[in-house]
Amino acid sequence: MIYRLVLDAFWSDPATAETLSQVAGDRLLAKSRLGLHPGGLAAAIAHYADLPTPQVLVVEETDPARLGPGLDRLAEVCVAGTKVVVIGPVNDIRLYRELMSKGVAEYLLAPVTARQILDTLSGLFAEPGAAPRGRTIACWGARGGTGSSTISQNLAWALGRHLQEPVIYMDLDIPFGTSTLAFNLDVKQSVVDALANPARLDEVLMDRCMADYDEHLQVLAAPGDGRSHSAIAVDALEHMVDVASRMAGIVVLDMPHHWAEWSEALLAGADEVVVTATADFASLRDTKTLLEQLSLRRQGMAAPRVVLNRVENGRKAQLSAKDFADTVKISPALIVPADPSLFGEAATNAQMLGEASANHKIVQALTQLAVSLSGKAAQSRPAAKAKSLFPWLNRT
Ligand SMILES: Nc1ncnc2c1ncn2[C@@H]1O[C@H](COP(=O)(O)OP(=O)(O)O)[C@@H](O)[C@H]1O
Ligand SMILES: [Mg+2]
Repeated sequence: MIYRLVLDAFWSDPATAETLSQVAGDRLLAKSRLGLHPGGLAAAIAHYADLPTPQVLVVEETDPARLGPGLDRLAEVCVAGTKVVVIGPVNDIRLYRELMSKGVAEYLLAPVTARQILDTLSGLFAEPGAAPRGRTIACWGARGGTGSSTISQNLAWALGRHLQEPVIYMDLDIPFGTSTLAFNLDVKQSVVDALANPARLDEVLMDRCMADYDEHLQVLAAPGDGRSHSAIAVDALEHMVDVASRMAGIVVLDMPHHWAEWSEALLAGADEVVVTATADFASLRDTKTLLEQLSLRRQGMAAPRVVLNRVENGRKAQLSAKDFADTVKISPALIVPADPSLFGEAATNAQMLGEASANHKIVQALTQLAVSLSGKAAQSRPAAKAKSLFPWLNRT
């Protein structure tokens, strides 16, 4: 089995660094991304103060007295799901038990061999279902034209940039999806091919159906040929998303404004849901309806995030963000002003907003939302307050 892991290792003994570089060269990890860093446990704590931790984190500490306190500090910055492997200097069963009780996945006594590390990694993901799964983010527009696809494409791009790990964007608006235009891709295969034979769909076939946008972002495009393709089976779609989530840390689903069994199933099962709405009554009603339907099916899961998009400063015909929030009972995670020149320029040049204008306030706000969706911020920060680009909107 070839692992697709994102692993960072912080060594303190140069001999360990040597062993880790042997591990990095092993065939088992040919599809993984390994980062080797000096500085041991202390460097890891500093490194992850504002970066998300990877799937596997290997830390070395040569001073036994620093191990316990250091791991406590590391735990504060660790994303749920990160497996921590500790390399330490003492062979002591009490220490071992203490580390396990702190949630450490494995403790290895220095000096370690490459084989020991590889066996540990196999052990971590040996059980069926233990293979790490990426986070799924389902994006849905309260109406057609609210900007949901644009927001989801830009979130996917920002997530790749921020996490520096593989992100897959899936265009599920099969007849009318705009991903080939937005990303300027010339694709030979699309989501239709991926769904054509669900029993055969695995990581290799999936890889063939996707196109690379950049180093981090892969796109499963929709043909956008206006043809109605036969009804989508829920099982096939769930299998496709599952395969993708084994290939990437994040899978962004761009869903059409279309209500079907499959769309409801994906919205109910996704780790995160982003609803993009405009500030009008129709959008408000549909957001409210969706949130009510989902609240029953998503008990105990992350509350959907609402993005209020295309907000026009001072336009009376629009509802205020407060009216919107009061009715749907969720304050918008993000309020995006209408900005035809920024969005128009990016669309015309087939660029992401961050490529068209890296320092724009809207780009920064979208990046913040992406960071929060990545799971890192949800753990370390209290629920973010509505980030309004228009302070007056919150005053009404
Ligand atoms: N905040 C905004 N300001 C101006 N134009 C926007 C904004 N958000 C999206 N758009 C534009 O709206 C159009 C429709 O967006 P799209 O993402 O395709 O919507 P949806 O997927 O919800 O149907 C696109 O031309 C897009 O560039
Ligand atoms: Mg769309």
